Amino acid sequence: MMDRKHSRSLFQALVALATGGSMACTAGGPQLGQSPTRDVIAAMTPEEKISLVMGTGMRFPDAGMPPEMQPPDVGQTDERVPGAAGMTFAIPRLGIPSVILADGPAGLRIQPEREGDSSGTFYCTAFPIETQLASSWDVDLVERVGGAVGSELKEYGVDVLLAPALNIHRNPLGGRNFEYYSEDPLVTGRMAAAMVKGVQSQGVGTSPKHFVANNHEWNRTTIDVIVGQRALREIYLRGFEVAVAEAKPWTIMSSYNKVNGTYTSESSELLTGVLREDWGFDGLVMTDWFAGRDAVAQMEAGNDLLMPGTAGQQTALRAALESGALSEDVLDRNIERILDVIQRTPTFQGYPHSNTPDLEAHARLAREAGAQGMVLLRNEGALPIASPATLALLGNTSYSMITGGTGSGDVNEAYSISLEQGLTDAGFTLDGPLAESYEAFIKEEEANRPPPPQWFMLPPPLPEMSVPADEIARLARETDLALLTIGRRSGEFIDRSREDDFELADTEKALIDAVTGAFHSEGKKVLVVLNIGGVIETASWREKPDAILLAWQPGQEAGHAIADVLSGKTPPSGKLATTFPVNWEDVPSSRDFPGQVLLGPDPDATGIFADADRAAEVTYEDDIWVGYRHFTTKGEETAYAFGFGLSYTEFGYDDLKLSSTEFEGELTVSVTVTNTGAAAGREVAQLYLSAPGKVAPKPALELRGFAKTKTLEPGESETLSFSLTPRDLASFDPDSSAWLAEAGTYTVKVGASSEDIRQTATFTKAEEEKVATVSTAVGAAPPAE
Ligand code: BGC
Repeated sequence: MMDRKHSRSLFQALVALATGGSMACTAGGPQLGQSPTRDVIAAMTPEEKISLVMGTGMRFPDAGMPPEMQPPDVGQTDERVPGAAGMTFAIPRLGIPSVILADGPAGLRIQPEREGDSSGTFYCTAFPIETQLASSWDVDLVERVGGAVGSELKEYGVDVLLAPALNIHRNPLGGRNFEYYSEDPLVTGRMAAAMVKGVQSQGVGTSPKHFVANNHEWNRTTIDVIVGQRALREIYLRGFEVAVAEAKPWTIMSSYNKVNGTYTSESSELLTGVLREDWGFDGLVMTDWFAGRDAVAQMEAGNDLLMPGTAGQQTALRAALESGALSEDVLDRNIERILDVIQRTPTFQGYPHSNTPDLEAHARLAREAGAQGMVLLRNEGALPIASPATLALLGNTSYSMITGGTGSGDVNEAYSISLEQGLTDAGFTLDGPLAESYEAFIKEEEANRPPPPQWFMLPPPLPEMSVPADEIARLARETDLALLTIGRRSGEFIDRSREDDFELADTEKALIDAVTGAFHSEGKKVLVVLNIGGVIETASWREKPDAILLAWQPGQEAGHAIADVLSGKTPPSGKLATTFPVNWEDVPSSRDFPGQVLLGPDPDATGIFADADRAAEVTYEDDIWVGYRHFTTKGEETAYAFGFGLSYTEFGYDDLKLSSTEFEGELTVSVTVTNTGAAAGREVAQLYLSAPGKVAPKPALELRGFAKTKTLEPGESETLSFSLTPRDLASFDPDSSAWLAEAGTYTVKVGASSEDIRQTATFTKAEEEKVATVSTAVGAAPPAE
């Protein structure tokens, strides 16, 4: 095998050849970028074609994979960017380089150090998780984060980011919810579009994923999601539709699961009908890693690139091509899309990456984004903390912060700031003996923690340290206030559990009780900081502490970002993009979560997660009634509503104006938001619409726009405007396979949350309108409504 340095310089020479660079072009035949793409494809051998529609494979350290899952036999072992998730096949004689694909949503994921390479390190910035970015409701901020992530790709020699991830938060227990934005498709779509625009502004690509309905992890590689056409279009596809329309991602990643009986990666209805014909997507579609079963069906469906590429797929495609079961035209079509993307990449263009992105500037942005995405859930006069104060800092994660989730969405950052450090840097004094006991406890527990049973599983969480009552009494006497952190970690492969995860563990409840009891009896306040990646139960304990800050998992600058909000340096302005229910059972999808095992082990399953690979099915009986659509329509109580978030000030809403009281083509809405309190702050105004609901049942309200003010000083106002298009009035009608805007009276509701509407106005639409007709149904008949 060639050594790495040698193979890289050879590679660069090949790129120069392909781009007409300084080296003379000695290869005969067409060259990508110089000759028409069709000529380049025509010059390929069938074997080259098969290689090009799949990645160069993935090797696992602890192998144990069946032979068909091994890398395809393509003779390429080049690892230009160690830790990247995959790469495409190169055909040097035609000027085609291989391009590099790497995760993921919270920042670029590559290996930070390289064996035998002392020239430098390759750390990336861990930004806040996507759920937190969405909670900022600030699309400009998210686009800036995207720009920073994109520049890390470009400078580390990566071509396509395997993100953003935009599946819907259907149930609080979804193990990867932290990687996704929201329960609402508009927030999801606009956030994803901003991320795509930011990343792609750097000349690298994105791969919004997982298309579609990969809403939980259990049996994700085999599960069949049975979902009605209306819910599919309005809830699960809508975010992707917005992202494709607004930001034109270079690629899309199909998901592992089936939808209505067909693997998404094998579904022409989804990949060709919906994506390309209905929405005009013109990039390439790649599979999720090892997804689907039938490589020929994937090719035909328009799943152009199989990732990471396996020997089994190579064999299957060879046989199908030879027998005529797979037409070469299908391969050519897919290859053309792959080559289009390859030509846009920095690798193809010979960009000389520096390996020195501006990590300091990106750390500052991570801190800003972390603070903007935190949500103040409760504040009974406890925040901001008057400085200087002495704090009793409790809870394991105060000392060992959870900066993000695990799995492919994890980032290898150079450092992370604990809350202990963040508060100290902000000038607060922490109780020393308490900090010392936590540090010793965490060190010992981590040393004794058994390794997870499988490499892809999480280690068990550390138990909360129990703090003796007399120590808590001492802290209550000697410090000014208590800050207690509750932490949760989750990640790829596994969903969360109710006990000790969605619900607080008994030790956590006991700590809250003991600390609030002791501090309140000394007339002192208690703050709770939630260092979590997904929704938890709060209703049973939320009135005990004086303040609750939902800090999420804020990335590497966690401690600084939290201290910024607690001190008032950055006033809180985030709002929930996902409902916090009172009980888990209140969420309609909990009735069939995560689904049913059908048959025991799946006879077709060749997945790497054999134990979990069973034929399973989940029926989305909740239909379109996901999140606030359910709670507001049924008038059911929530712990914290969709769109809710406090600040250190108050805002008034006035002067709601519609450009017309009759809808003709478009309508403009404006509202004035005024800071009526005594501190500076930013407000997220939300525009909901209530449709007539005569033709189909409609939610009490649906989000159709949102805007965040600049920082308003006390007394300052800003007028925000929104526009409504026919599509905003429409819902999906499965009978006519069209988006229908009903005739009748619509109510515009502008407010501070889905349950705090401040201004309303109505308009009418004279005629029913078929706004867009789309491809036929996706999969089998929908379940009865
Ligand atoms: C995940 C994807 C990820 C891919 C490559 C899969 O297990 O589901 O989100 O992009 O691995 O790491």
